[in-house]
Amino acid sequence: MPLDGLSAESITANLNTRVIGRRVIYYPQVASTNDVARQEAQQGAAEGTVVIADEQTAGRGRIKRVWLSPRGNISLSIILRPSLSHLPYLIMVASLAVVRSIELVTGLKAQIKWPNDILINGKKVCGILIENEVRGSALAFAVIGIGINLKLSLADFPEVAAAATCLADELGKEVSRLEMIRSLLVEFERLYLMLSDRGEFIFREWQSRLITLGRKVRVISGDSVLAGIVESVATDGSLLLRLPDGGSTRIVAGDVNLREQN
Ligand code: BTN
Repeated sequence: MPLDGLSAESITANLNTRVIGRRVIYYPQVASTNDVARQEAQQGAAEGTVVIADEQTAGRGRIKRVWLSPRGNISLSIILRPSLSHLPYLIMVASLAVVRSIELVTGLKAQIKWPNDILINGKKVCGILIENEVRGSALAFAVIGIGINLKLSLADFPEVAAAATCLADELGKEVSRLEMIRSLLVEFERLYLMLSDRGEFIFREWQSRLITLGRKVRVISGDSVLAGIVESVATDGSLLLRLPDGGSTRIVAGDVNLREQN
């Protein structure tokens, strides 16, 4: 019997969406929902298809990191087929959808650490991994992988205990996984459908939730590590870092460590 009664039917029943989650593929256990979603997309799965698992045995994070996904948390991937021009906005849509669903379901305030880590009280509660397949000059599909720590016994994972948190610990009680998933899909769709004419609104919302702006940071980008102050972000999702020598550099992908508050 799946945990929390999680099943494709329980997620889709009367779900108030037109595209996202119209089809849900549920597994008790997979290596990575992003890998399954990629295979489904390559075989023609429709936009909005969701692959979800109770547990991942080889969950993947950004920059080749491992993502811990024990049973009882949220590990899902959404298949999208947007235009190439909408690609930079997917990070914004996904992080805002998580922030909003956390706030709606738990009342907890969540923030975004550039580019798409979701934090509560400074600790990471959710990670997002976006992977694409481009064919020629067109985007064949994008897979949006979302992992939310719902109930994580951090004592069992000392390697992440200092930097991570889970919704149950932050709220002081358990959070319904089903309610979180359904709310996330509804919020995701609402924001995603805005992309055709309100991309600027999505960008402003995302920007207003970033805790990274104006902060002293250390950025690991490829092989280089840069220290500086985050000056701004652009609509393509990149970050402008002001360097100690007065110069600046634009960072498209990387990992940010926040340093002491200014
Ligand atoms: C990160 O913060 O480094 C990104 C973590 C992304 C984890 C999710 S869980 C669902 C999907 N499947 C994976 O293997 N990874 C993503």
